[in-house]
Amino acid sequence: MALCRAISAALVLAAAVLLGSLCPVALSEDERLENLRFVQHASDAPLVSHFNYIIVGGGTSGCPLAATLSEHSRVLLLERGGLPHANMSSQEHFTDALADTSPASPAQRFVSEDGVVNARARVLGGGSCLNAGFYTRASNEYVRTAGWDPRLVNSSYRWVERALVFRPGVPPWQAALRDALLEAGVTPDNGFTFDHVTGTKIGGTIFDGNGQRHTAADFLRHARPRGLTVVLYATVSRILFRSQEGVPYPVAYGVVFGDPLGVQHRVYLRDGAKNEVILAAGTLGSPQLLMLSGVGPQAHLEAHGIQALVDQPMVGQGVADNPMNSVFIPSPVPVGLSLVQVVGITKSGSFIEGVSGSEFGIPVSDSARRLAASFGLFSPQTGQLGTLPPKQRTPEALQRAADAMRRLDRRAFRGGFILEKILGPVSTGHVELRTTDPRANPAVLFNYFQEAEDLERCVRGIQTIERVIASRAFSNFTYSNASVESIFSDSANFPVNLLPRHANDSRSPEQYCRETVMTIWHYHGGCHVGAVVDDDYRVFGVRGLRVIDSSTFRYSPGTNPQATVMMLGRYMGVKIQAERWRK
Ligand SMILES: Cc1cc2nc3c(=O)[nH]c(=O)nc-3n(C[C@H](O)[C@H](O)[C@H](O)COP(=O)(O)OP(=O)(O)OC[C@H]3O[C@@H](n4cnc5c(N)ncnc54)[C@H](O)[C@@H]3O)c2cc1C
Ligand SMILES: *[C@@H]1O[C@H](CO)[C@@H](O)[C@H](O)[C@H]1NC(C)=O
Ligand SMILES: *[C@@H]1O[C@H](CO)[C@@H](O)[C@H](O)[C@H]1NC(C)=O
Ligand SMILES: *[C@@H]1O[C@H](CO)[C@@H](O)[C@H](O)[C@H]1NC(C)=O
Ligand SMILES: *[C@@H]1O[C@H](CO)[C@@H](O)[C@H](O)[C@H]1NC(C)=O
Ligand SMILES: *[C@@H]1O[C@H](CO)[C@@H](O)[C@H](O)[C@H]1NC(C)=O
Repeated sequence: MALCRAISAALVLAAAVLLGSLCPVALSEDERLENLRFVQHASDAPLVSHFNYIIVGGGTSGCPLAATLSEHSRVLLLERGGLPHANMSSQEHFTDALADTSPASPAQRFVSEDGVVNARARVLGGGSCLNAGFYTRASNEYVRTAGWDPRLVNSSYRWVERALVFRPGVPPWQAALRDALLEAGVTPDNGFTFDHVTGTKIGGTIFDGNGQRHTAADFLRHARPRGLTVVLYATVSRILFRSQEGVPYPVAYGVVFGDPLGVQHRVYLRDGAKNEVILAAGTLGSPQLLMLSGVGPQAHLEAHGIQALVDQPMVGQGVADNPMNSVFIPSPVPVGLSLVQVVGITKSGSFIEGVSGSEFGIPVSDSARRLAASFGLFSPQTGQLGTLPPKQRTPEALQRAADAMRRLDRRAFRGGFILEKILGPVSTGHVELRTTDPRANPAVLFNYFQEAEDLERCVRGIQTIERVIASRAFSNFTYSNASVESIFSDSANFPVNLLPRHANDSRSPEQYCRETVMTIWHYHGGCHVGAVVDDDYRVFGVRGLRVIDSSTFRYSPGTNPQATVMMLGRYMGVKIQAERWRK
């Protein structure tokens, strides 16, 4: 117990550093601690407790939701991970977490049945602690189709933006990408805007001017301290349901969570019909937890020895991941580090973005090994390897590729990646249980490019990238002796470019799309609105339970989803509060 107390003291201190440092006004130490007494280690949590709202998952939507609901109620936020550590908050080291495959990693690696290596968050702040920071809203049409109240949507986006969104300083490589997109016909120039509109624009970012990341955990600073308890390292294993007189459905009345020592804790909803359990455990976590709790396809649950409370065949269905394909463009000049800042939104539904830089900020004395390790999002270290078709990306193959990269001259790492992601997508798959262990990844299938429409969008995206590479605007960052063709297929001279590939690649963009497919981590679905939850995000067939996170999306919003995931947390928090106090 003494150890646990020491850990929680350290947690509070770390939280003070993490959250306090982002405070615009100087707070005294006492005020900071007062603000953060609500952060607790699971081992220190009581065995039984009671709340108005129990939120499962302290991620990108769970944090703004918890902060909002805490204004007038007693809220418990349960997160299976810990606090984001310092490295995650620095732009230069942000891929360290993705490369960390240890059981304590804030990024839990998974490999989808498609064979593409992927990752899911396991940390307070969720995906916003791991991501590339790009911030951009959903289109007005997306908002209309979702049936959301557009005014509340806008005020919720603004609430998010005031807390943690910045305008990026655009370095030369990103500026060249912007100009090249315009030259390639992705017009008009929309300047700097959060809006999702056709053309080329500069978007927002959650990295500030010093390259420091701000995350969804920052929203907790806006919580009412007495209204919120956050428990870290708490893995929820089950939602508790009971029957209630006069209600023809199972009613959620609490959850069970395990701490790292395996002790099971129970949390119950306080009495009152308006109290609720809310899942915000993400695209993998929310359907998984519904199934573990007996809500899902009956035969599948029974095959895992779970009694089906509600036969709900749609739980875990309609899961999708936007395929991402990228091209590395070697540069004759050193290129500074930049994460996504510019996006080209084409009429045909492919979105073009870029990340650059490898040498910037890295001491010259460091070896090529360090360069390779920090080479950003697309490296064998993070599992993002396009040199091999998906199913061949085994741990051994990733290791071989990492070793090969270490032998390269550092000049090989100069340059940047131009990537494309497609709208939608329309191809979908599913999330299914593999085991009943809540800590284990479920099985996930995305069926990339199963639908021809998706493949066509990818091909058009690659063709746009080819025009970008060949443009005059981008010429400072390409070798004058390198043709577009050679960049795609000359593995001797461009060894980092996701090659060796066979000679046919440059002639078959379809093949390039299929064989170099990676994830942009925008997976979504599994608890669709209209299939698993209703328009108010209440789970069909039960009472007292909602799902509010990326699992409810049929299509990924905007070019990148986090703005809308955060917005939804705030939006639903405001709506649930209004319902609660309505006479
Ligand atoms: C590497 C990477 C780069 C990305 N780049 C961008 C980008 O530049 N721009 C952008 O807009 N989007 C980006 N995204 C996508 C975006 O971050 C995600 O769409 C978003 O974070 C999803 O939010 P969520 O709330 O649905 O899930 P999450 O943020 O993952 O939150 C779910 C939380 O629930 C917790 N949890 C799960 N199961 C349990 C359980 N049983 N008990 C307790 N807790 C549980 C998890 O630990 C996690 O913290 C990126 C994502 C990644 C990973
Ligand atoms: C954080 O970054 C430093 C400096 O590169 C590195 O030595 C350390 O191992 C990193 N820590 C983690 C937890 O990744
Ligand atoms: C919401 O904001 C968008 C711009 O982001 C604007 O186009 C739209 O008209 C706004 N809607 C309302 C109802 O204010
Ligand atoms: C290329 O770089 C030179 C020198 O920095 C600059 O003057 C020129 O404008 C750049 N060209 C383009 C097309 O941006
Ligand atoms: C292009 O030129 C550079 C030097 O400017 C050289 O190192 C490289 O090998 C050349 N590449 C090709 C494909 O000829
Ligand atoms: C390349 O294309 C030719 C002609 O279409 C075909 O015969 C050959 O099998 C292809 N090679 C590979 C490796 O796909």
